[in-house]
Amino acid sequence: MNANHHKIGFALMLCLFASTLNAADIAAGKSRAETCQGCHGNAGVSNNSLWPNLAGQPAIYLEAQLKKFKSGTRDNPTMKPIAEALSDADIQNLAAYFASLPAKSSGGDATLAKAGKDQVPQCMGCHGNKLQGQGQFPRLAGQHPQYLAKQLSDFKSGSRNSSTMNAIAKTLTEDNIKAIATYLGSLTN
Ligand code: HEC
Ligand code: HEC
Repeated sequence: MNANHHKIGFALMLCLFASTLNAADIAAGKSRAETCQGCHGNAGVSNNSLWPNLAGQPAIYLEAQLKKFKSGTRDNPTMKPIAEALSDADIQNLAAYFASLPAKSSGGDATLAKAGKDQVPQCMGCHGNKLQGQGQFPRLAGQHPQYLAKQLSDFKSGSRNSSTMNAIAKTLTEDNIKAIATYLGSLTN
């Protein structure tokens, strides 16, 4: 083997090594997710309106939130001990698994949803033009309205921390929040 072959071989080996390190394992995520099912549902769609659907949420967003629960940056007494038990690899695999599942619409009150429709164009620049989420920005479409309303109130009061969302939520009244959350939950994409 001449020197060039060695260089190519070494570069290839580095690539393979890097891709094994970063590859999320969806199957491992699925089996780890058994402990999440009781609350988040068996396909990432929950039956309780205060427990968020995870199906179809961007993996980057899910990973970031699990790390925030673990560190306490996002303060939640239910999720903290659960996230503390997860390794970085668990978090990556769980995020990839839930991101791979199809999202489901929560349905909801059509009249109230209509009132919320006019207020969401200002959200699309970050959350996507179908509110489907992208990268660090969560999917809002189809999420449980009660969960969304709680999060917007938490951003408004500052009990959930995000400089961007804290500023946006402060501009919304309780009626705005209710209408927006109902509209978002009714979306089907
Ligand atoms: C006992 C019920 C329960 C269990 C079990 C549970 N969760 Fe949760 N989870 C919640 C609740 C409640 C919230 C909402 C917290 C809030 O209001 O901010 C939540 C929020 C989340 C969020 C944030 C979603 C978003 O849209 O921001 C993620 C991600 C999450 N859970 C992942 C998991 C994973 C992964 C597991 C399993 C390893 C799990 N949860 C197990 C109750 C649970
Ligand atoms: C400039 C970008 C930006 C805009 C505009 C924006 N958001 Fe967000 N939003 C974010 C980011 C970033 C997060 C994640 C915050 C975190 O890391 O906890 C978020 C999170 C959320 C969440 C939490 C979702 C969940 O699953 O827990 C809700 C609800 C939300 N935004 C609603 C809205 C609504 C409604 C609007 C329009 C009125 C809006 N956002 C506009 C950036 C934005």
